[in-house]
Amino acid sequence: ALIHSGSVMALPFLSAVFLCSFCAVLGSQQPHIVFILADDFGWYDVGFHGSEIRTPNLDKLSASGVRLDNYYVQPLCTPSRNQLMTGRYQIHTGMQHQIIWPCQPYCVPLDQKMLPQLMKEAGYATHMVGKWHLGMYKKDCLPTRRGFDTYFGYLTGSEDYFTHVRCVPISALNLTRCALDLRDGEEVATTYKGDYSTELFSQRATSIISKHTPTKPLFLYMALQAVHSPLQVPDRYLTPYSFIKDHHRQLYAGMVSAMDEAVGNITLALQQSGLWDNTVLIFSTDNGGQTLSGGSNWPLRGRKWSLWEGGVRGVGFVTSPLLKRPGTVSRELIHISDWLPTLVGLAGGSTNSTKPLDGFNVWNAISKGHASPRLELLHNIDPLYNDIAPCPGSEKKLTLAQVDSGDSWTKSGFNVSIHAAIRFSKWKLLTGYPGCDIWFPRPGHNSSSETRTSDVDPLKSVMLFDIENDPEERNEVSAQFPAVVEYLLDRLNHHQKSALPINFPNDDPKCDPGPKGAWGPWA
Ligand SMILES: *[C@@H]1O[C@H](CO)[C@@H](O)[C@H](O)[C@H]1NC(C)=O
Ligand SMILES: *[C@@H]1O[C@H](CO)[C@@H](O)[C@H](O)[C@H]1NC(C)=O
Ligand SMILES: *[C@@H]1O[C@H](CO)[C@@H](O)[C@H](O)[C@H]1NC(C)=O
Ligand SMILES: *[C@@H]1O[C@H](CO)[C@@H](O)[C@H](O)[C@H]1NC(C)=O
Ligand SMILES: *[C@@H]1O[C@H](CO)[C@@H](O)[C@H](O)[C@H]1NC(C)=O
Repeated sequence: ALIHSGSVMALPFLSAVFLCSFCAVLGSQQPHIVFILADDFGWYDVGFHGSEIRTPNLDKLSASGVRLDNYYVQPLCTPSRNQLMTGRYQIHTGMQHQIIWPCQPYCVPLDQKMLPQLMKEAGYATHMVGKWHLGMYKKDCLPTRRGFDTYFGYLTGSEDYFTHVRCVPISALNLTRCALDLRDGEEVATTYKGDYSTELFSQRATSIISKHTPTKPLFLYMALQAVHSPLQVPDRYLTPYSFIKDHHRQLYAGMVSAMDEAVGNITLALQQSGLWDNTVLIFSTDNGGQTLSGGSNWPLRGRKWSLWEGGVRGVGFVTSPLLKRPGTVSRELIHISDWLPTLVGLAGGSTNSTKPLDGFNVWNAISKGHASPRLELLHNIDPLYNDIAPCPGSEKKLTLAQVDSGDSWTKSGFNVSIHAAIRFSKWKLLTGYPGCDIWFPRPGHNSSSETRTSDVDPLKSVMLFDIENDPEERNEVSAQFPAVVEYLLDRLNHHQKSALPINFPNDDPKCDPGPKGAWGPWA
C-alpha cells in the first residue's frame, strides 16, 4: 500500500525499497481504520435512502464501498457505543436499561476490555475524537484509561454545539448546573467557546491524520456530536434548505450537511496524507432518528428509544480500496456488536483476552459477499423500560400489553410483559411495550394518509413480524406462526438467564462541578 501513496512514489527508488523492507516488520499490511459514528442520524436522513437532505460525500463514499442494508444498532446512545467498544450485548454488561446520565456513578464495567485496547495490543496508534458517553464518574472510566492514546471531546451525552456547555438538573441540590464538557486528554479544554463542534472535531481528526506516521497502523474513532439535539448550525449550512418549511427539519438538514462536509474533509485528509489506499473507513449511526428533533426514519416504524425498526435499523456503510466487491449493497445481517471482532480481525489482533463476545467477524460478509455468520440478533431485554418521551396514545397501549400478557405464551417461562426484541433470520419478535410505535410521515408530506395509530392496530404483548417482507412492521403474524413464536420466546428466555442484574444507580449529587467547574470525574 505504501507503494501507491504519492509521497513514497516521489522518493528515490532506494528509499522506497528501504521503506518497503520495513513493511513486513512494521506491519504496514495492517489497514488504517477510521470509524465515524454519527449521533441520532435517521434512516431517511441520508441522500442514498432518498432523503430531501443532501449528503454528497456519504452518497459517493458509500456508492464506491458497501452499503449495509440489513444493519442494526441499539436504540440509544450509550448502548450502541457500549457494544461497539465491547462486542457484547447490553445484558452482559448490566447496562440494558437506558443511558448513563451525567450524575450517575457508573461506567462500562472496568473488567470489560475495550476495542482500542485490543487495537493497541495489535500495534495500532489509537485516537478518539468526540462523544464518549460510556461513563466518567471516576478517572479509570475515561477514554484515555480505556485504550485511547489521545482523546478530544465531551464525556456526557449532549451539549451546546458552540459553548460546549451542558446543563443538568441535580434534584438533591435543588439546582440546575450548567458547566463546560470538553476535554483534551484528561484536561478541561476552555479555549474553544464559539467553535461549532462538527468543525472543531473534524479539524482535530484531520490534524491527527496529517500528523500520523504512515508506517504505524492508525485506529481513529470519530464520534460526532452531529446530528443530536440541540438543533444548532451556522447559517451558511441552511442556505440550500430554504425549501424545507418545517423549521426543525430545516435546522436538522443543515446539521446533516455540516456532518457530510466533515466526512468529506476527513476522507480528503486520508487521501492527502497517503493513508487512503490502506484504509478501511466505516460510517454508522448510533441509533434511529429522533423525530422530536428533526430526524426521520420514514418509512420505518417508531424512532430512537424504541425497538421498532425506526429505532434500531441503522444507516451504515464501509468504504475501502481493500474491499473485494466495492459498489455493492449488503443484505447480510450485521450488528454494531460485530465491529469489535471484525476490526480486531482486520488488525491481525486477538480477542482471546475478552469476555465471551456476542459479536461476529463479518468482514467476509462485507468484503466478499459471503453469508453473515450472524443468524440471530438480540435487540435487548429491559425489564425496567420506560419511554421518557412517550408518543400520543402510548399509555393506553402499555396497559393493553400488560392485560393480555402471559395467557398463551407462558411455556417458555419468559415474562412477556418485559420490553424485549429478538431477530432470527427474517423474523423479529417483540414483547412488552416496544416504545413509540407511530409511522411518522415522510418529511414535507401529509400525515393523514401515511400514519396509522393503535386505534387501528392495538399492540399485543407478543408480536411477530417478517422483517424481510414487511420492514415497516405493519402485519403482525404471531397467530400464523406459533412455532416461530415459541422458538423465539425460548431464545429470549435463554438470553435472559445469562443477563447480569441491571446497574442503574441513583444520581450522586457529588457530581456537581460547581459554578466554575467542568463535568468530569468526581469519585
Ligand atoms: C428550590 O429552589 C427554588 C428556587 O430557587 C425555591 O423556590 C424552592 O423553595 C427550593 N426548594 C427546596 C426544597 O429547597
Ligand atoms: C472542511 O474543510 C474546509 C476547508 O478547510 C473548511 O472550511 C470547513 O469548515 C470544513 N468543514 C468542517 C465541517 O469541518
Ligand atoms: C488465541 O487462542 C488460540 C486458540 O486457543 C491460539 O491458537 C492463539 O495462539 C491465541 N492467540 C493469541 C494472540 O494469544
Ligand atoms: C413481568 O415483567 C413486568 C415488567 O418488567 C413486571 O412488572 C412483572 O412483575 C413481571 N412479572 C413476573 C411474574 O415476574
Ligand atoms: C393534508 O391533508 C388535508 C386533508 O386531506 C388537507 O386539508 C391539507 O391541506 C393537507 N395539507 C398539506 C400540507 O398537504
